[in-house]
Amino acid sequence: MRPLPSAFDPDSSPTAAPRLAERKAGHEAALASVREALDEAANARSEKAIARHREQNKRTAKERIDLLLDPGAPFLEIGALAARGMYDGGVHKAGSIGGVGVIEGRTCVIQANDAMVKGGTIYPMGVKKTLRLQAIAMENRLPFVSLVDSGGAYLPLQSEVFPDIDDGGRIFYNQARMSKMGIPQLCAVMGLCTAGAAYIPAMSDEVVHVRGTGAIFLAGPPLVRAATGEDVTTEELGGAVLHTHVSGVSDYLAENDDDAIDILRRRVACLPQQGAPPARAPRAPRYDPHELYSIVPTEPHVPYDIREVIARIVDGSEFEEFQANYGPTMVCGWAYIHGYLVGVLANNGPIFSESALKATHFIELCEKRGTPLVFLQNVAGFIVGKAYERGGITKHGQQMVAAVATCTVPKFTVIVGGSFGAGNYAMCGRAYSPRFLWMWPTAQIAVMGGEQAGRVLIDVQNTQRARAGLGPISPEEEAMILEPVRANTRAEGNALHATANLWDDGIIEPHRTRDVLGLSLAAALHAPLPDPPHGWPQGFSTFRF
Ligand code: COA
Repeated sequence: MRPLPSAFDPDSSPTAAPRLAERKAGHEAALASVREALDEAANARSEKAIARHREQNKRTAKERIDLLLDPGAPFLEIGALAARGMYDGGVHKAGSIGGVGVIEGRTCVIQANDAMVKGGTIYPMGVKKTLRLQAIAMENRLPFVSLVDSGGAYLPLQSEVFPDIDDGGRIFYNQARMSKMGIPQLCAVMGLCTAGAAYIPAMSDEVVHVRGTGAIFLAGPPLVRAATGEDVTTEELGGAVLHTHVSGVSDYLAENDDDAIDILRRRVACLPQQGAPPARAPRAPRYDPHELYSIVPTEPHVPYDIREVIARIVDGSEFEEFQANYGPTMVCGWAYIHGYLVGVLANNGPIFSESALKATHFIELCEKRGTPLVFLQNVAGFIVGKAYERGGITKHGQQMVAAVATCTVPKFTVIVGGSFGAGNYAMCGRAYSPRFLWMWPTAQIAVMGGEQAGRVLIDVQNTQRARAGLGPISPEEEAMILEPVRANTRAEGNALHATANLWDDGIIEPHRTRDVLGLSLAAALHAPLPDPPHGWPQGFSTFRF
């Protein structure tokens, strides 16, 4: 691997310094908004909910996860800002904490309901988050550990969490399929688990049940009373003693939350060790990742060399560039991240035919050799215009999109700038199933920028009017079209909006990109790769070897 040079000079000239300082301030402001949102999502709970939780002698979801994880082990939180600003603004983290963490040396997916958020009930975004966590467990073959404390469906929105293909039923469908795939599922019942929430333990392999606070039933005492007139207590209907001594629904009786976590840790310790060690010892980059804040513009349309980012992510800042002189707007090459060999694809401008063909070729090479792919997205889209259509840009773009869609090696995406148009697809956006997708705080995502979208709509209006023999609309009318589209793109195209909708796995601090990718790679390599050669569907090949 060759060391990447950097044009960045930390002691830069007085003329450049103010611009760099401005960039840094822009990143810091975006980071501050994300940190503020994370703090609110983690800590803003009503006095009433906190008091009720403590009165029941229960640990919080965060405390439970902290106890479950190996001391000092990192926790790759997924969807930390899910549902932000939705519903009444108080459904923090979509009602549960979820992520990837290490228990007894085994990497697991963990989810803990937060009973301080509307009794841990499941909102539509809560379903989406659970399905995402299950997808991570399935794609990466990771055990799933649930700490359940949930009143089931959030009843005022029941039609949105119940009937469709990606609604609540899918959670239990997935549990059955995960079981068939041999993915261990362990569960601790740490609160009243009613109706839908009762199925989580019911469909798990092993269930730990906390005496006094944990209960499992299809209908709680009030509903039983209403339906049958039978008067029962919570303990009689679904308590730990009933389910571990009489019904056999639960497997281990725990005296309290801490005891339940201890039992879970002992059970995880009996699971087989998995995962692939890194190919070589990790090495820090030669350049300080904090320099990214001065180098990378906060507006995606301002050009810079993406190699400056690569140099601050990869081991030793070393990068073996593939076709360095061809298709220069797509930078491709091999590097190590935390000791794992990866193929990197990164944008240095819009995607031209040559860039798409080069990327397709590179993806094929990585696919054949079982090398995971890392996409660094800062893409305005494919190049447009008469000359490019004549050159076959649509076909060449299709080849890259098809290669990204059909390759079987693990893919990882970080949106470091803009993610616009079909560039999002070609650079492995969410719909292309990267194992993990992360965003930087200043990232933007949309079909196109607000200005361009507004101009297209104005043009459509003017064409209609021309057909009717009328002249173009006035500048005032143009402004009335442009402004709302601009405002809408600003409101819906930013990273905070994207992450609230779970279009990504989370917003990350740019200087931590390397570590987040390292953890993502380590988690992903638990799933065995298909046997080499990693095959393409019959008939698909742009390049032949
Ligand atoms: N849908 C909507 N809101 C619900 C809810 C549900 N299924 N279950 C509880 N909540 C709300 C409560 O209204 C309360 O809201 P508030 O904070 O605005 O007052 C909050 O969640 C906490 O409930 P509370 O009963 O005060 O807390 P608790 O710790 O004593 O009990 C539950 C929590 C979940 C065990 C209990 O509320 C319960 O049994 N809920 C009904 C569960 C059910 O039958 N679900 C059927 C789903 S198919």
